Amino acid sequence: MNFYILLLFLILKQSKSNGYHALYDTKIAEAAVDKHDWQILWQERDENGLDILSFHKEAPGIWLVTFRARPISLRNLRRYDIKYRIIVNNMRRHIEFLLEEIKEGPPSIEMGNATFLNYLNFDEVVEYVESTPRFSTPYKLISTEVIGRSVQNRSIPMLRIDNAGVNDTIVVEAGMHGREWISVMTAVYLIAKLVREGDDFPELGRLNWFIIPCLNPDGYYHSLQIEGYTFHRKNLNVEYCPPKQYNCSIESCGVDLNRNFAFHDIKVGIHGNPCVGTYGGRRSFSEPESQALQSILKLYKDRIKMFISLHSYGPFILYPWSYKKEKCNDWKDLVRAARKAVKAIQSVTFNATHYKIKNIGTEFGPTAGCVEDYAKHLGIKYSYRMELQRAGNRVFMPKLENIKNFCKENFYGIAALAMHISKQPEKLGMMKGKAKDVKEVKSSQDFVKPNILYIMFLYGALLN
Ligand SMILES: *[C@@H]1O[C@H](CO)[C@@H](O)[C@H](O)[C@H]1NC(C)=O
Ligand SMILES: *[C@@H]1O[C@H](CO)[C@@H](O)[C@H](O)[C@H]1NC(C)=O
Ligand SMILES: *[C@@H]1O[C@H](CO)[C@@H](O)[C@H](O)[C@H]1NC(C)=O
Ligand SMILES: *[C@@H]1O[C@H](CO)[C@@H](O)[C@H](O)[C@H]1NC(C)=O
Ligand SMILES: *[C@@H]1O[C@H](CO)[C@@H](O)[C@H](O)[C@H]1NC(C)=O
Repeated sequence: MNFYILLLFLILKQSKSNGYHALYDTKIAEAAVDKHDWQILWQERDENGLDILSFHKEAPGIWLVTFRARPISLRNLRRYDIKYRIIVNNMRRHIEFLLEEIKEGPPSIEMGNATFLNYLNFDEVVEYVESTPRFSTPYKLISTEVIGRSVQNRSIPMLRIDNAGVNDTIVVEAGMHGREWISVMTAVYLIAKLVREGDDFPELGRLNWFIIPCLNPDGYYHSLQIEGYTFHRKNLNVEYCPPKQYNCSIESCGVDLNRNFAFHDIKVGIHGNPCVGTYGGRRSFSEPESQALQSILKLYKDRIKMFISLHSYGPFILYPWSYKKEKCNDWKDLVRAARKAVKAIQSVTFNATHYKIKNIGTEFGPTAGCVEDYAKHLGIKYSYRMELQRAGNRVFMPKLENIKNFCKENFYGIAALAMHISKQPEKLGMMKGKAKDVKEVKSSQDFVKPNILYIMFLYGALLN
Protein backbone atom coordinates (compact mmCIF):
# COMPACT_ATOMS: atom_id res chain seq x y z
CA MET A 1 0.00 0.00 0.00
CA ASN A 2 2.73 2.42 1.02
CA PHE A 3 4.41 1.73 -2.26
CA TYR A 4 1.39 3.03 -4.18
CA ILE A 5 1.18 6.15 -2.07
CA LEU A 6 4.85 6.78 -2.79
CA LEU A 7 4.24 6.19 -6.49
CA LEU A 8 1.29 8.58 -6.50
CA PHE A 9 3.41 11.15 -4.70
CA LEU A 10 6.17 10.78 -7.28
CA ILE A 11 3.71 11.15 -10.14
CA LEU A 12 2.18 14.28 -8.62
CA LYS A 13 5.60 15.73 -7.96
CA GLN A 14 6.67 14.92 -11.49
CA SER A 15 3.62 16.61 -13.00
CA LYS A 16 4.56 19.86 -11.28
CA SER A 17 8.02 20.09 -12.76
CA ASN A 18 7.58 18.38 -16.10
CA GLY A 19 6.68 20.59 -19.04
CA TYR A 20 4.77 17.87 -20.87
CA HIS A 21 2.41 17.38 -18.00
CA ALA A 22 1.96 21.10 -17.51
CA LEU A 23 0.90 21.47 -21.14
CA TYR A 24 -1.28 18.37 -21.31
CA ASP A 25 -2.97 19.45 -18.14
CA THR A 26 -4.45 22.48 -19.85
CA LYS A 27 -7.59 23.11 -21.89
CA ILE A 28 -8.35 25.88 -24.33
CA ALA A 29 -11.48 27.84 -23.60
CA GLU A 30 -13.26 30.98 -24.66
CA ALA A 31 -15.28 33.42 -22.56
CA ALA A 32 -17.08 36.71 -23.07
CA VAL A 33 -16.24 38.76 -20.00
CA ASP A 34 -16.96 42.19 -18.59
CA LYS A 35 -14.39 44.37 -16.92
CA HIS A 36 -14.75 42.72 -13.54
CA ASP A 37 -14.42 39.16 -14.89
CA TRP A 38 -11.53 40.26 -17.04
CA GLN A 39 -9.65 41.17 -13.90
CA ILE A 40 -10.22 37.69 -12.52
CA LEU A 41 -8.77 36.17 -15.69
CA TRP A 42 -5.83 38.50 -15.32
CA GLN A 43 -5.34 37.41 -11.74
CA GLU A 44 -5.44 33.76 -12.81
CA ARG A 45 -2.76 34.56 -15.34
CA ASP A 46 -0.51 36.00 -12.66
CA GLU A 47 -1.17 33.38 -10.02
CA ASN A 48 -1.84 30.18 -11.91
CA GLY A 49 -0.19 30.76 -15.26
CA LEU A 50 -3.41 31.06 -17.28
CA ASP A 51 -2.21 31.64 -20.84
CA ILE A 52 -4.18 34.30 -22.70
CA LEU A 53 -4.08 33.36 -26.39
CA SER A 54 -6.03 36.29 -27.76
CA PHE A 55 -8.71 38.78 -26.88
CA HIS A 56 -10.68 41.52 -28.48
CA LYS A 57 -13.50 43.89 -27.65
CA GLU A 58 -16.70 42.21 -28.70
CA ALA A 59 -19.02 45.05 -27.68
CA PRO A 60 -18.66 48.07 -25.39
CA GLY A 61 -17.42 46.73 -22.07
CA ILE A 62 -17.30 43.11 -23.28
CA TRP A 63 -14.16 41.25 -24.26
CA LEU A 64 -14.01 37.91 -25.98
CA VAL A 65 -11.02 36.07 -24.54
CA THR A 66 -9.46 32.80 -25.64
CA PHE A 67 -7.17 31.22 -23.09
CA ARG A 68 -5.38 28.05 -22.08
CA ALA A 69 -5.85 27.10 -18.47
CA ARG A 70 -5.13 24.39 -15.94
CA PRO A 71 -7.96 22.78 -13.92
CA ILE A 72 -7.24 25.03 -10.94
CA SER A 73 -8.00 28.15 -13.00
CA LEU A 74 -11.11 26.63 -14.54
CA ARG A 75 -12.35 25.79 -11.05
CA ASN A 76 -11.71 29.34 -9.94
CA LEU A 77 -13.57 30.74 -12.93
CA ARG A 78 -16.55 28.54 -12.12
CA ARG A 79 -16.36 29.71 -8.53
CA TYR A 80 -16.68 33.29 -9.76
CA ASP A 81 -19.49 32.20 -12.04
CA ILE A 82 -17.60 33.06 -15.19
CA LYS A 83 -19.10 31.14 -18.10
CA TYR A 84 -16.63 29.69 -20.56
CA ARG A 85 -16.81 27.39 -23.53
CA ILE A 86 -14.17 24.69 -23.96
CA ILE A 87 -12.58 24.69 -27.40
CA VAL A 88 -9.91 22.06 -26.83
CA ASN A 89 -10.70 19.57 -24.13
CA ASN A 90 -8.06 16.90 -24.58
CA MET A 91 -4.80 18.75 -25.11
CA ARG A 92 -2.70 15.63 -25.43
CA ARG A 93 -4.85 14.32 -28.25
CA HIS A 94 -5.00 17.77 -29.84
CA ILE A 95 -1.22 18.05 -29.94
CA GLU A 96 -0.61 14.47 -31.01
CA PHE A 97 -3.04 15.12 -33.82
CA LEU A 98 -1.24 18.33 -34.89
CA LEU A 99 2.18 16.66 -34.92
CA GLU A 100 0.82 13.61 -36.72
CA GLU A 101 -0.91 15.77 -39.31
CA ILE A 102 2.35 17.54 -40.11
CA LYS A 103 4.29 14.29 -40.23
CA GLU A 104 1.82 12.48 -42.44
CA GLY A 105 0.85 15.50 -44.54
CA PRO A 106 2.07 16.43 -48.02
CA PRO A 107 5.66 17.65 -48.38
CA SER A 108 6.27 21.30 -47.48
CA ILE A 109 9.01 21.61 -50.11
CA GLU A 110 9.02 20.06 -53.56
CA MET A 111 12.00 20.47 -55.87
CA GLY A 112 13.15 23.42 -53.80
CA ASN A 113 9.78 25.19 -53.99
CA ALA A 114 7.54 25.68 -50.96
CA THR A 115 4.20 23.96 -51.56
CA PHE A 116 2.22 25.77 -48.80
CA LEU A 117 0.47 22.47 -48.25
CA ASN A 118 2.37 21.88 -45.01
CA TYR A 119 4.37 23.89 -42.47
CA LEU A 120 8.05 24.41 -43.19
CA ASN A 121 10.19 23.51 -40.22
CA PHE A 122 12.91 25.89 -39.10
CA ASP A 123 15.72 24.29 -41.14
CA GLU A 124 13.53 24.35 -44.24
CA VAL A 125 12.83 28.06 -43.72
CA VAL A 126 16.56 28.75 -43.54
CA GLU A 127 17.24 26.63 -46.60
CA TYR A 128 14.46 28.35 -48.51
CA VAL A 129 15.80 31.80 -47.69
CA GLU A 130 19.37 30.83 -48.44
CA SER A 131 18.54 29.27 -51.79
CA THR A 132 16.63 32.31 -53.01
CA PRO A 133 19.53 34.59 -54.10
CA ARG A 134 19.97 32.56 -57.29
CA PHE A 135 16.86 34.36 -58.55
CA SER A 136 18.82 37.65 -58.76
CA THR A 137 18.61 39.59 -62.03
CA PRO A 138 20.67 42.52 -63.28
CA TYR A 139 18.08 44.89 -61.83
CA LYS A 140 17.15 42.99 -58.72
CA LEU A 141 19.77 41.89 -56.26
CA ILE A 142 18.59 39.09 -54.01
CA SER A 143 20.74 38.37 -51.02
CA THR A 144 20.56 36.87 -47.55
CA GLU A 145 22.03 37.97 -44.27
CA VAL A 146 22.20 36.32 -40.90
CA ILE A 147 21.14 39.25 -38.74
CA GLY A 148 21.79 37.53 -35.44
CA ARG A 149 21.73 34.26 -33.55
CA SER A 150 19.17 33.00 -31.07
CA VAL A 151 19.75 32.07 -27.44
CA GLN A 152 20.37 28.48 -28.59
CA ASN A 153 22.58 29.71 -31.42
CA ARG A 154 20.19 29.21 -34.33
CA SER A 155 20.61 31.70 -37.15
CA ILE A 156 18.10 34.47 -37.80
CA PRO A 157 18.03 34.82 -41.58
CA MET A 158 16.86 37.84 -43.55
CA LEU A 159 16.10 37.94 -47.25
CA ARG A 160 16.91 41.21 -49.02
CA ILE A 161 15.49 42.35 -52.31
CA ASP A 162 17.35 45.41 -53.53
CA ASN A 163 16.08 46.96 -56.74
CA ALA A 164 18.44 49.07 -58.80
CA GLY A 165 18.09 52.75 -57.97
CA VAL A 166 15.63 52.22 -55.15
CA ASN A 167 16.17 53.13 -51.50
CA ASP A 168 12.66 52.92 -50.09
CA THR A 169 12.39 49.73 -48.13
CA ILE A 170 9.70 47.65 -46.53
CA VAL A 171 10.60 45.44 -43.61
CA VAL A 172 8.41 42.45 -42.83
CA GLU A 173 9.16 40.40 -39.75
CA ALA A 174 7.41 37.20 -38.66
CA GLY A 175 7.70 34.44 -36.13
CA MET A 176 8.48 36.65 -33.15
CA HIS A 177 6.20 34.34 -31.18
CA GLY A 178 7.08 30.68 -31.67
CA ARG A 179 3.57 29.28 -31.84
CA GLU A 180 2.29 31.70 -34.47
CA TRP A 181 3.15 29.36 -37.34
CA ILE A 182 1.02 31.00 -40.00
CA SER A 183 3.02 34.23 -39.68
CA VAL A 184 6.20 32.38 -40.67
CA MET A 185 4.41 30.75 -43.60
CA THR A 186 3.08 34.14 -44.74
CA ALA A 187 6.60 35.60 -44.79
CA VAL A 188 7.81 32.64 -46.84
CA TYR A 189 4.88 33.13 -49.21
CA LEU A 190 5.88 36.77 -49.56
CA ILE A 191 9.35 35.65 -50.63
CA ALA A 192 7.81 33.21 -53.11
CA LYS A 193 5.60 35.88 -54.66
CA LEU A 194 8.13 38.71 -54.68
CA VAL A 195 11.05 36.71 -55.96
CA ARG A 196 10.39 33.25 -57.24
CA GLU A 197 7.18 34.06 -59.08
CA GLY A 198 8.01 37.76 -59.12
CA ASP A 199 6.99 38.73 -62.64
CA ASP A 200 3.34 38.92 -61.68
CA PHE A 201 3.84 41.77 -59.24
CA PRO A 202 5.93 44.42 -60.98
CA GLU A 203 4.56 47.36 -58.98
CA LEU A 204 6.10 45.92 -55.87
CA GLY A 205 9.50 46.23 -57.52
CA ARG A 206 9.45 49.94 -56.79
CA LEU A 207 10.40 49.03 -53.29
CA ASN A 208 13.13 47.10 -51.59
CA TRP A 209 12.10 44.38 -49.20
CA PHE A 210 13.78 43.01 -46.12
CA ILE A 211 11.96 39.89 -45.00
CA ILE A 212 12.76 38.21 -41.69
CA PRO A 213 10.56 35.09 -41.68
CA CYS A 214 11.55 33.71 -38.30
CA LEU A 215 12.78 36.15 -35.67
CA ASN A 216 12.44 33.63 -32.85
CA PRO A 217 14.01 30.44 -34.27
CA ASP A 218 14.17 28.59 -30.95
CA GLY A 219 10.52 29.34 -30.24
CA TYR A 220 9.39 28.24 -33.69
CA TYR A 221 11.58 25.15 -33.70
CA HIS A 222 10.31 24.02 -30.31
CA SER A 223 6.69 24.88 -30.97
CA LEU A 224 6.58 23.04 -34.27
CA GLN A 225 8.88 20.12 -33.60
CA ILE A 226 9.23 19.36 -29.90
CA GLU A 227 6.35 17.69 -28.12
CA GLY A 228 5.40 19.61 -25.01
CA TYR A 229 6.34 23.01 -26.44
CA THR A 230 3.52 23.42 -28.96
CA PHE A 231 2.18 26.56 -27.28
CA HIS A 232 5.56 28.15 -26.69
CA ARG A 233 5.37 31.87 -27.38
CA LYS A 234 8.60 33.33 -26.02
CA ASN A 235 12.26 32.76 -26.75
CA LEU A 236 14.16 29.96 -25.02
CA ASN A 237 16.11 32.01 -22.53
CA VAL A 238 15.74 29.94 -19.37
CA GLU A 239 18.41 31.79 -17.44
CA TYR A 240 15.77 33.96 -15.77
CA CYS A 241 13.73 31.18 -14.23
CA PRO A 242 15.88 29.00 -12.02
CA PRO A 243 13.60 26.23 -10.71
CA LYS A 244 14.44 26.99 -7.10
CA GLN A 245 13.10 30.49 -7.36
CA TYR A 246 10.20 29.93 -9.73
CA ASN A 247 7.87 27.02 -10.08
CA CYS A 248 7.23 27.35 -13.76
CA SER A 249 7.84 24.43 -16.05
CA ILE A 250 10.62 24.79 -18.58
CA GLU A 251 8.10 25.18 -21.43
CA SER A 252 6.76 28.37 -19.90
CA CYS A 253 10.18 30.01 -19.38
CA GLY A 254 11.61 32.59 -21.75
CA VAL A 255 11.30 36.23 -22.68
CA ASP A 256 8.41 37.68 -24.66
CA LEU A 257 10.34 39.41 -27.44
CA ASN A 258 7.46 41.79 -28.06
CA ARG A 259 7.96 43.23 -24.59
CA ASN A 260 11.71 43.53 -24.97
CA PHE A 261 11.97 46.51 -27.34
CA ALA A 262 12.71 49.77 -25.61
CA PHE A 263 10.26 52.55 -25.68
CA HIS A 264 10.21 55.31 -23.09
CA ASP A 265 11.26 52.69 -20.54
CA ILE A 266 7.70 52.34 -19.38
CA LYS A 267 6.89 49.01 -17.83
CA VAL A 268 3.14 48.96 -18.41
CA GLY A 269 1.87 45.60 -19.68
CA ILE A 270 5.22 43.91 -19.08
CA HIS A 271 5.24 41.10 -16.57
CA GLY A 272 8.03 40.65 -14.04
CA ASN A 273 7.55 36.90 -13.60
CA PRO A 274 9.48 34.80 -16.13
CA CYS A 275 6.80 32.09 -16.06
CA VAL A 276 4.20 34.44 -17.55
CA GLY A 277 3.69 34.80 -21.30
CA THR A 278 4.42 38.52 -21.31
CA TYR A 279 7.64 38.48 -19.28
CA GLY A 280 9.76 41.29 -20.69
CA GLY A 281 13.28 40.21 -19.76
CA ARG A 282 15.67 41.89 -17.40
CA ARG A 283 15.95 45.06 -19.45
CA SER A 284 15.18 46.42 -22.91
CA PHE A 285 17.01 44.58 -25.67
CA SER A 286 18.39 41.99 -23.27
CA GLU A 287 17.69 39.25 -25.85
CA PRO A 288 19.77 38.43 -28.94
CA GLU A 289 16.62 38.09 -31.08
CA SER A 290 15.32 41.58 -30.30
CA GLN A 291 18.84 42.97 -30.72
CA ALA A 292 18.99 41.46 -34.20
CA LEU A 293 15.85 43.27 -35.35
CA GLN A 294 16.87 46.43 -33.55
CA SER A 295 20.13 46.55 -35.49
CA ILE A 296 18.29 46.36 -38.82
CA LEU A 297 15.67 48.96 -37.93
CA LYS A 298 18.27 51.35 -36.54
CA LEU A 299 20.71 50.97 -39.39
CA TYR A 300 18.14 51.47 -42.15
CA LYS A 301 15.57 53.68 -40.44
CA ASP A 302 15.95 56.51 -42.95
CA ARG A 303 15.06 54.22 -45.84
CA ILE A 304 12.35 52.12 -44.25
CA LYS A 305 8.95 53.31 -45.42
CA MET A 306 6.96 50.61 -43.73
CA PHE A 307 7.51 48.03 -41.04
CA ILE A 308 5.08 45.13 -40.57
CA SER A 309 5.26 42.64 -37.75
CA LEU A 310 3.24 39.51 -38.52
CA HIS A 311 1.46 37.75 -35.69
CA SER A 312 -1.54 35.56 -35.17
CA TYR A 313 -4.26 35.72 -34.44
CA GLY A 314 -6.85 38.37 -35.21
CA PRO A 315 -7.86 39.30 -37.79
CA PHE A 316 -6.52 42.78 -37.10
CA ILE A 317 -4.32 45.43 -38.64
CA LEU A 318 -2.94 47.40 -35.70
CA TYR A 319 -1.06 50.66 -35.43
CA PRO A 320 0.77 52.57 -32.64
CA TRP A 321 0.82 53.57 -29.99
CA SER A 322 0.91 50.48 -27.89
CA TYR A 323 2.44 51.87 -24.70
CA LYS A 324 -0.44 54.30 -24.18
CA LYS A 325 -4.07 54.65 -25.12
CA GLU A 326 -3.37 57.43 -27.58
CA LYS A 327 -3.14 57.15 -31.30
CA CYS A 328 0.00 58.33 -33.04
CA ASN A 329 -0.33 61.84 -34.55
CA ASP A 330 -0.57 60.68 -38.14
CA TRP A 331 -2.90 57.75 -37.42
CA LYS A 332 -5.27 58.86 -40.16
CA ASP A 333 -2.59 58.19 -42.78
CA LEU A 334 -1.95 54.77 -41.31
CA VAL A 335 -5.64 53.93 -41.27
CA ARG A 336 -6.11 55.14 -44.84
CA ALA A 337 -3.38 52.77 -45.99
CA ALA A 338 -4.68 49.91 -43.87
CA ARG A 339 -8.14 50.24 -45.44
CA LYS A 340 -6.61 49.33 -48.80
CA ALA A 341 -5.26 46.18 -47.24
CA VAL A 342 -8.60 45.30 -45.68
CA LYS A 343 -10.36 45.66 -49.04
CA ALA A 344 -7.73 43.71 -50.89
CA ILE A 345 -7.87 40.87 -48.38
CA GLN A 346 -11.63 40.80 -48.44
CA SER A 347 -11.74 40.59 -52.20
CA VAL A 348 -9.29 37.72 -52.60
CA THR A 349 -10.01 35.68 -49.52
CA PHE A 350 -11.92 32.46 -49.88
CA ASN A 351 -13.91 33.42 -46.81
CA ALA A 352 -14.34 37.22 -47.12
CA THR A 353 -12.28 37.72 -43.99
CA HIS A 354 -12.78 41.19 -42.62
CA TYR A 355 -9.70 42.55 -40.88
CA LYS A 356 -10.41 45.23 -38.31
CA ILE A 357 -8.17 48.29 -38.08
CA LYS A 358 -7.39 49.22 -34.49
CA ASN A 359 -5.05 51.20 -32.34
CA ILE A 360 -3.00 48.76 -30.23
CA GLY A 361 -3.12 50.64 -26.90
CA THR A 362 -6.86 51.22 -27.00
CA GLU A 363 -7.77 47.76 -28.22
CA PHE A 364 -5.51 45.71 -25.99
CA GLY A 365 -4.68 48.05 -23.14
CA PRO A 366 -1.37 49.90 -22.88
CA THR A 367 1.62 47.62 -23.39
CA ALA A 368 5.22 48.79 -23.55
CA GLY A 369 8.25 47.22 -25.16
CA CYS A 370 6.51 46.38 -28.45
CA VAL A 371 8.43 46.55 -31.69
CA GLU A 372 5.75 48.62 -33.48
CA ASP A 373 6.29 51.47 -31.03
CA TYR A 374 10.03 51.14 -31.36
CA ALA A 375 9.88 51.34 -35.16
CA LYS A 376 7.50 54.30 -35.01
CA HIS A 377 9.74 56.01 -32.52
CA LEU A 378 12.69 55.64 -34.89
CA GLY A 379 10.70 57.65 -37.43
CA ILE A 380 9.26 54.85 -39.55
CA LYS A 381 5.91 56.35 -40.41
CA TYR A 382 3.98 53.23 -41.39
CA SER A 383 4.49 50.79 -38.55
CA TYR A 384 1.96 47.97 -38.21
CA ARG A 385 1.21 44.75 -36.49
CA MET A 386 -0.91 42.35 -38.52
CA GLU A 387 -2.70 39.73 -36.48
CA LEU A 388 -3.52 37.13 -39.08
CA GLN A 389 -6.81 35.35 -39.10
CA ARG A 390 -7.69 32.62 -36.73
CA ALA A 391 -8.67 29.12 -37.68
CA GLY A 392 -11.50 27.90 -35.50
CA ASN A 393 -10.39 25.61 -32.69
CA ARG A 394 -6.98 25.34 -34.31
CA VAL A 395 -6.19 28.84 -32.95
CA PHE A 396 -2.56 29.46 -34.01
CA MET A 397 -2.26 26.41 -36.24
CA PRO A 398 -4.55 26.50 -39.27
CA LYS A 399 -5.30 23.18 -40.93
CA LEU A 400 -2.86 22.20 -43.65
CA GLU A 401 -5.45 22.76 -46.35
CA ASN A 402 -5.93 26.37 -45.18
CA ILE A 403 -2.26 27.41 -45.17
CA LYS A 404 -2.16 28.44 -48.81
CA ASN A 405 -5.40 30.42 -48.68
CA PHE A 406 -4.43 32.25 -45.52
CA CYS A 407 -0.98 33.09 -46.89
CA LYS A 408 -2.51 34.30 -50.11
CA GLU A 409 -4.95 36.69 -48.49
CA ASN A 410 -2.28 37.99 -46.13
CA PHE A 411 -0.02 38.56 -49.09
CA TYR A 412 -2.65 40.62 -50.90
CA GLY A 413 -3.06 42.72 -47.77
CA ILE A 414 0.66 43.39 -47.53
CA ALA A 415 0.88 44.05 -51.27
CA ALA A 416 -1.97 46.56 -51.11
CA LEU A 417 -0.30 48.38 -48.22
CA ALA A 418 3.01 48.46 -50.07
CA MET A 419 1.45 49.76 -53.27
CA HIS A 420 -0.41 52.48 -51.44
CA ILE A 421 2.68 53.56 -49.58
CA SER A 422 4.92 53.51 -52.62
CA LYS A 423 2.66 56.16 -54.14
CA GLN A 424 2.57 58.47 -51.14
CA PRO A 425 4.31 61.80 -51.65
CA GLU A 426 5.02 61.90 -47.94
CA LYS A 427 8.52 62.31 -46.71
CA LEU A 428 10.31 59.36 -45.28
CA GLY A 429 9.75 58.99 -41.60
CA MET A 430 8.03 61.49 -39.36
CA MET A 431 10.43 64.39 -39.67
CA LYS A 432 13.24 63.61 -42.01
CA GLY A 433 13.47 62.66 -45.66
CA LYS A 434 13.59 64.29 -49.04
CA ALA A 435 10.72 64.71 -51.44
CA LYS A 436 12.96 63.83 -54.36
CA ASP A 437 12.95 60.19 -53.27
CA VAL A 438 9.53 59.82 -54.78
CA LYS A 439 10.50 61.01 -58.23
CA GLU A 440 13.49 58.75 -58.32
CA VAL A 441 11.51 55.79 -57.15
CA LYS A 442 9.12 56.29 -60.04
CA SER A 443 12.02 56.10 -62.46
CA SER A 444 12.66 52.60 -61.24
CA GLN A 445 9.65 51.58 -63.31
CA ASP A 446 11.97 51.82 -66.30
CA PHE A 447 13.28 48.39 -65.64
CA VAL A 448 10.10 46.58 -64.68
CA LYS A 449 7.64 45.67 -67.34
CA PRO A 450 4.24 46.26 -65.76
CA ASN A 451 1.81 43.47 -66.21
CA ILE A 452 -1.23 45.56 -67.03
CA LEU A 453 -3.72 42.78 -66.41
CA TYR A 454 -2.41 42.21 -62.94
CA ILE A 455 -2.40 45.90 -62.09
CA MET A 456 -5.96 46.28 -63.33
CA PHE A 457 -6.96 43.28 -61.30
CA LEU A 458 -5.38 44.53 -58.13
CA TYR A 459 -6.73 48.06 -58.61
CA GLY A 460 -10.14 46.54 -59.16
CA ALA A 461 -9.72 44.72 -55.89
CA LEU A 462 -8.65 47.91 -54.13
CA LEU A 463 -11.55 49.96 -55.47
CA ASN A 464 -14.23 47.46 -54.50
C1 LIG B 1 10.38 25.63 -58.65
O1 LIG B 1 9.32 26.04 -59.48
C2 LIG B 1 9.73 26.68 -60.65
C3 LIG B 1 8.51 27.12 -61.40
O2 LIG B 1 7.68 27.89 -60.57
C4 LIG B 1 10.58 25.76 -61.48
O3 LIG B 1 11.04 26.45 -62.62
C5 LIG B 1 11.74 25.26 -60.67
O4 LIG B 1 12.45 24.30 -61.40
C6 LIG B 1 11.26 24.64 -59.37
N1 LIG B 1 12.37 24.19 -58.58
C7 LIG B 1 13.33 24.94 -58.09
C8 LIG B 1 14.41 24.22 -57.36
O5 LIG B 1 13.35 26.13 -58.19
C1 LIG C 1 27.08 29.24 -33.12
O1 LIG C 1 26.98 28.75 -34.43
C2 LIG C 1 27.99 29.22 -35.29
C3 LIG C 1 27.66 28.78 -36.70
O2 LIG C 1 27.36 27.44 -36.75
C4 LIG C 1 29.35 28.72 -34.81
O3 LIG C 1 30.36 29.22 -35.64
C5 LIG C 1 29.56 29.21 -33.39
O4 LIG C 1 30.75 28.68 -32.89
C6 LIG C 1 28.40 28.81 -32.50
N1 LIG C 1 28.56 29.43 -31.21
C7 LIG C 1 28.46 28.75 -30.09
C8 LIG C 1 28.62 29.52 -28.83
O5 LIG C 1 28.23 27.56 -30.09
C1 LIG D 1 6.32 26.98 -5.41
O1 LIG D 1 5.25 26.11 -5.11
C2 LIG D 1 5.12 25.79 -3.74
C3 LIG D 1 4.03 24.74 -3.59
O2 LIG D 1 3.05 24.87 -4.56
C4 LIG D 1 4.83 27.06 -2.95
O3 LIG D 1 4.73 26.78 -1.59
C5 LIG D 1 5.95 28.06 -3.19
O4 LIG D 1 5.66 29.28 -2.58
C6 LIG D 1 6.16 28.30 -4.67
N1 LIG D 1 7.33 29.13 -4.88
C7 LIG D 1 7.31 30.24 -5.63
C8 LIG D 1 8.60 30.98 -5.74
O5 LIG D 1 6.32 30.63 -6.22
C1 LIG E 1 -15.56 31.34 -42.75
O1 LIG E 1 -16.33 32.36 -42.17
C2 LIG E 1 -17.41 31.92 -41.40
C3 LIG E 1 -18.20 33.12 -40.95
O2 LIG E 1 -17.38 34.17 -40.56
C4 LIG E 1 -16.88 31.09 -40.23
O3 LIG E 1 -17.94 30.61 -39.46
C5 LIG E 1 -16.06 29.93 -40.77
O4 LIG E 1 -15.48 29.22 -39.70
C6 LIG E 1 -14.96 30.43 -41.68
N1 LIG E 1 -14.27 29.31 -42.26
C7 LIG E 1 -12.95 29.17 -42.16
C8 LIG E 1 -12.36 27.95 -42.79
O5 LIG E 1 -12.25 29.97 -41.59
C1 LIG F 1 19.84 56.34 -51.94
O1 LIG F 1 20.64 56.62 -50.82
C2 LIG F 1 21.95 57.01 -51.14
C3 LIG F 1 22.73 57.13 -49.84
O2 LIG F 1 21.98 57.80 -48.88
C4 LIG F 1 21.90 58.29 -51.94
O3 LIG F 1 23.21 58.69 -52.29
C5 LIG F 1 21.08 58.09 -53.19
O4 LIG F 1 20.91 59.28 -53.89
C6 LIG F 1 19.71 57.54 -52.83
N1 LIG F 1 18.99 57.15 -54.05
C7 LIG F 1 17.72 57.41 -54.22
C8 LIG F 1 17.11 56.87 -55.46
O5 LIG F 1 17.07 58.04 -53.41
